[in-house]
Amino acid sequence: MPLKIGDQITLQIQDLAFGGEGVGRADDFVVFTPFVIVGETVLVEITEVKKHFARARLLRVETASPERVTPPCRYFGQCGGCQYQHLAYPAQLHAKQKQIADLFERVGKIPRAVIAPVIPCPAPYGYRNRIMIRSQWNGPAKKLVIGFIRADNQFVEDIEECQIAEPALNEQIKQVRANPPPKGGLKVVLRVQPEGWNVPQHSFFQNNFFLLPKLVETVRDFLQAGGARHLLDLYCGVGFFGIEAANVLASFTGVEYDQPAIAAAQKNAQTRGVTNGTFLAGKVEAVLPELLAKLPAAQTAVLLDPPRKGCWPELLEQLRQTRPAQIIYVSCHPATMARDLNILCGDGVFELARVQPLDMFPQTQHVECVADLRCQKTTPALETELANARFLDSTGQN
Ligand SMILES: C[S@@+](CC[C@H](N)C(=O)[O-])C[C@H]1O[C@@H](n2cnc3c(N)ncnc32)[C@H](O)[C@@H]1O
Repeated sequence: MPLKIGDQITLQIQDLAFGGEGVGRADDFVVFTPFVIVGETVLVEITEVKKHFARARLLRVETASPERVTPPCRYFGQCGGCQYQHLAYPAQLHAKQKQIADLFERVGKIPRAVIAPVIPCPAPYGYRNRIMIRSQWNGPAKKLVIGFIRADNQFVEDIEECQIAEPALNEQIKQVRANPPPKGGLKVVLRVQPEGWNVPQHSFFQNNFFLLPKLVETVRDFLQAGGARHLLDLYCGVGFFGIEAANVLASFTGVEYDQPAIAAAQKNAQTRGVTNGTFLAGKVEAVLPELLAKLPAAQTAVLLDPPRKGCWPELLEQLRQTRPAQIIYVSCHPATMARDLNILCGDGVFELARVQPLDMFPQTQHVECVADLRCQKTTPALETELANARFLDSTGQN
């Protein structure tokens, strides 16, 4: 019997898909249900039926997993911000590692062995330093709601506090609620400024301060293992990675199209006494060929930290042609990252040495990954360059 909307069925949860939904099967037909755990038996109601799968909402947990915990947030399940508060933190890390390995194997043909265990966040709650609050006029209830987008539709859930946000942001939420806008439609970004970094109001900064030391350590370790002397820090924002890694490099260049961020990057380098870096305002895909042409490929690493949509295909092709010794790819969107790694590793041009996931976003479906790629195929021009570098090294001139 095909499933219909409104049917109530019992499911055994077999897996947690990327995005956090549990995977169960009704006569081999896949049913996705949020807020469940692998191994649980649950009663669900079908809410959507597609050609190859259905979606359901959880009605009752019949047999609970030992990993099930009580979510501390009173909005959990309604608010769209968190997917995993019902899952014990170590189990969240395990689930994310498996999801990344599954995804990379499927989309990027990447062997599971290169994916390291997820580095946990020392603060699984109260960590987010940036949130977006929205307001919306709820006609039927005749009330202005202020909060986050709901989990089940595009309406706003009224919230007074957020358990994953830093305490200072919860104070700001109170202020926004105490001074509501006259009508709906407000979208306000609340953020805590990072200490010691100049970040313009609309520019990007990593949104979990607690895991930043581990993120920097991972990038520096990869850079030092690769041994490159020069770094192109592409999509550099306010210069975070280049500046943090400056003391293991001879030189670095940051590229970013957000002009205020580039001005801030220059100030950040100055404040920190970093003098071996330059910053360039522009689109990475436009300036990369010229930058790469000026550097010895065999001694150059390229750090990519693109927005969620990933890198332009032209940019990946430029890297495949010029073949810098190392690429470090940082991403909070594993699906586009796997697609791009697959392109870079095509025909064995680059090889993926390691992927280090970091839990920058506990309780949510998101995860940050840092990948270390090494160039495997050199060109004749690069061979000459390598021979010259070896000669200069041997004479102490390099
Ligand atoms: C994920 S953020 C990374 C920022 C920085 N690496 C950091 O850790 O703070 C991506 C950055 O890429 C910039 N960006 C997006 N598309 C770009 C493009 N085509 N060329 C240059 N910068 C771009 C955005 O403005 C944003 O600052």
